[in-house]
Amino acid sequence: MKRYLVTGAAGFIGANFLKYLLKKYEEDIYVVVLDKLTYAGNLGTIKDEIADSRVRFVKGDIRNAELVANIFAETDIDYVVNFAAESHVDRSIANPQLFLETNILGTQNMLDCARKAWYRGKDSEGKPLYAEGKKFLQVSTDEVYGDLALDDPARFTEETPYRPSSPYSSTKASSDLLVRAWHRTFGVRATISNCSNNYGPYQHVEKFIPRQVTNILCGMRPRLYGDGLNVRDWIHTEDHSAAVWEILTRGRIGETYLVGADGERSNIEVLRAILRAFGLPEDDFDWVRDRPGHDRRYAIDPTKLRRELGWEPRHTDFIEGLDQTIAWYRDNEDWWRPAKEATEARYAAQGQ
Ligand code: NAD
Ligand code: TYD
Repeated sequence: MKRYLVTGAAGFIGANFLKYLLKKYEEDIYVVVLDKLTYAGNLGTIKDEIADSRVRFVKGDIRNAELVANIFAETDIDYVVNFAAESHVDRSIANPQLFLETNILGTQNMLDCARKAWYRGKDSEGKPLYAEGKKFLQVSTDEVYGDLALDDPARFTEETPYRPSSPYSSTKASSDLLVRAWHRTFGVRATISNCSNNYGPYQHVEKFIPRQVTNILCGMRPRLYGDGLNVRDWIHTEDHSAAVWEILTRGRIGETYLVGADGERSNIEVLRAILRAFGLPEDDFDWVRDRPGHDRRYAIDPTKLRRELGWEPRHTDFIEGLDQTIAWYRDNEDWWRPAKEATEARYAAQGQ
């Protein structure tokens, strides 16, 4: 029986991971979900999962030391998967402070609570000992590596130096560095995964693909930043879930694994594919103000994950995955509609 503490599982990627985990294991599993239910958290996404007797939902903040310590005291947690974060670059430009608080201080609190709960004294040389088999996985992003030029033949690897550009990516980089420090200094059994841009069901309508799809469903034109040539490396969220599980259960302690599915596409290419799927002309969108500091290109070399853990993406046809995602938003208007108006009002106020 493995006991998980999954933070941020009412958000996009965490919710998809929770669904993946419960489907993968028939019975021998117990999952505590910790989520603050910010604007990005939606309990409706995981209503079936939290009704499952194998799951306990706790509404709360990853910064709350007492609450998190109590979770560890009540349940002998084996695996922590830390998804909880403020995750949107545009919001981090509007309000950086919250990103420092959640992403940096929240991760520090999660690490400290895991450290205390798993600590088992010192060995004969004075090195800290921890309970066997425990693991902390920090779910991070490729954005910590900054960006690449469009014509750069290089992709990000585990050795690429950190060079974050936005308040969001600099706080994610900071939290990764804390994980490394807590491993090196205190011996906490931790790993880090840095994944590229996810797409799939249950993604908030403020993010690129859901925003454009739901704009069209609402009779509004999609909105493209800058010159539309920025490149993102897309991966289906189910493939990310599978990678997280492999890294958590089989990844080496203290290591970093990059997660990507060879999915580089420019924003305009993705937008045109969305327009085509709706039978609309390819120029049926508006150019809007660019994001300050807009990263040009992200690209992941996932060789280490593939070679060492044998992970392979299943969703290798991006257009097929995109069509399925579009169909999901078409069929699940009840899920996204409540957030749409406020999201667009925010964008309008920013000239986007
Ligand atoms: P999201 O914004 O959709 O969800 C974040 C979740 O965290 C929400 O449920 C929210 O309520 C919760 N949360 C926020 N602050 C909290 C706090 N202080 N305490 C407890 N819960 C809190 O984000 P997402 O897109 O699902 O991303 C999840 C993780 O994956 C993040 O750490 C993000 O940096 C990382 N990531 C995302 C992508 C991507 O493409 N979206 C790619 C790589 C890595
Ligand atoms: P986003 O989904 O915010 O993810 P990230 O910035 O973390 O990669 O944006 C993806 C890309 O799409 C990014 O280059 C910004 C661009 N974008 C638009 O062109 N229009 C939009 O309305 C949004 C939300 C993003």
